[in-house]
Amino acid sequence: MHIQTNKKQNIRREIDIPGDKSISHRSIILSSLARGKARIKGFLESEDCLKTIQAFQNMGVEIERLNRGEYIVNGVGIRGLKAPHNVIDCGNSGTLMRLLTGLLATQKFYTVLNGDVSLRLRPMDRIIQPLSKMGAKIWARCNKYAPLSIKGSTLKGLEYKLPVASAQVKSAILLAGLQTDQQVKIIEPALSRDHTERLLAGLGVDIKKKGHVTYLPKVGKRDFDAQDIEVPGDISSAAFFIVAGLITQNSEIIGEPIADLVVRSSELKGTEISGNIIPTLIDEIPAISIMASQAEGETIIKDARELRVKETDRIKAMVSQLSSLNVNIEALDDGMIIRGPNSIKGGIEVNSFGDHRVAMSLTILGFLADNEITIKNSQNIHTSFPEFEQILSVL
Ligand code: S3P
Repeated sequence: MHIQTNKKQNIRREIDIPGDKSISHRSIILSSLARGKARIKGFLESEDCLKTIQAFQNMGVEIERLNRGEYIVNGVGIRGLKAPHNVIDCGNSGTLMRLLTGLLATQKFYTVLNGDVSLRLRPMDRIIQPLSKMGAKIWARCNKYAPLSIKGSTLKGLEYKLPVASAQVKSAILLAGLQTDQQVKIIEPALSRDHTERLLAGLGVDIKKKGHVTYLPKVGKRDFDAQDIEVPGDISSAAFFIVAGLITQNSEIIGEPIADLVVRSSELKGTEISGNIIPTLIDEIPAISIMASQAEGETIIKDARELRVKETDRIKAMVSQLSSLNVNIEALDDGMIIRGPNSIKGGIEVNSFGDHRVAMSLTILGFLADNEITIKNSQNIHTSFPEFEQILSVL
């Protein structure tokens, strides 16, 4: 699939941002593990999150769709999952594969997880290492990549210093920890997103957080009853239209359920984005690089080496594609430097390398280009933002 962009004089609209991807995955995972029925509203019906529903249905959880984004999950309890009859397909989703691995390492059955060509190239040793220390039995291609096979076993406690701040790794360990009777302690170098901890605490699990340390104490409640979950809008999806509103002249965009954000065209200035803030906005960096291309002066993005192991190498992808659009940008090992503002002529084809966030970021830049830009390999925007094209068509 290709996206074709065109120049916008101004954007004045209210945009409904779809449900948060990370919370949608977790709403199904945790409601499946709960005792009883939960109603989920605002669930993101994207390819990635629908794969999570399928995975749990394949493990015997009844999940019923009531309306768009509205589901009833009949939780089976933390020990109630059944062995799936086939390989579980995680599609493009690193979150699904990593969280499931943690959970399945403690089940009384054998599973195989696989994914698409991008997911099969993403590092899984980052979860295999800590889970193996807990006693998990996981086999991976070249000890690192999917397909993964997992033979569930009884796990022991863990105290683990994460080498890189990662919400997915932390969540995989916590899900494995739900079925141990020992302390599970995770120490992060910087705070990553905390959706799992917040949801577990909200469901009544005894989980503690002190600074960079998150732990399940040795004695504490680890099973839980179902509760209804309302998924808020996804700030990472909102980011594309936030940037669009900032860089397109005479624009005002309102969006995002739960909290409304109003975004107006602005005179942007370059800045440095680095350090502890990076893990909290790692998914927004492709969109931020577009904003930086229109900001006056230099923007330096550092400490973001993790971008190299996302759905594609996002440093390489953004730097190569923005360079081809004549943006003044250079790659760093762990980030990029962008000097702006840059006027965008367009009239060329660029490639998103099958990465949804690269595709949507380049699309937004197309709003400023004098001539049409074609963004190739954009089909994966359906993994996180299926309504994106429809919104584009009315801007
Ligand atoms: C996610 C965590 C982040 C983020 C990803 C979603 C999650 O990855 O990039 O898109 O839902 O846990 P990290 O594990 O690198 O923090």
